[in-house]
Amino acid sequence: MIVLSTDHRGYDLMQKIKKYLEKLGLEYISVGANSFDPTDSYATYTLKANDIVAQNEKNIGIYLCGTGLGTAMGANRNKHIRAVLCDHPKYAYFGRKHNNANVLVMPANYVSFGKAKRIIHTFLSTDFEGGRHIARLEEISK
Ligand code: RB5
Repeated sequence: MIVLSTDHRGYDLMQKIKKYLEKLGLEYISVGANSFDPTDSYATYTLKANDIVAQNEKNIGIYLCGTGLGTAMGANRNKHIRAVLCDHPKYAYFGRKHNNANVLVMPANYVSFGKAKRIIHTFLSTDFEGGRHIARLEEISK
């Protein structure tokens, strides 16, 4: 299951991402935000989405906020979440391959929809390499 979360800054990009995922035939659930209303907080949505992603190792999250910074910080507060902030496909590639990331965070203010699609495609199609990276990830999960 793909879990979507954004604050008001990412609302517009997230609407486009939803359509993109639907076109790919991928199911998702969205915890919000549901408008451009600036009172919506990235913290609230991030923590809600974290709880759902953490329920199953196969779940992944796609989270947005203006810079992605606050959301990435909030996402990584949960010890079952491995969130990477990506503004380029290469980060999504290594985030999956080396860090087994289960949450992709993007800065809605700084990525176009076209770039976001390339980042999402890379994140979804790259497998964790395992091997030497396993012990490193275990160490930071203690
Ligand atoms: C909202 O104004 C902004 O602070 C938020 O989207 C994000 O960039 C926080 O890290």
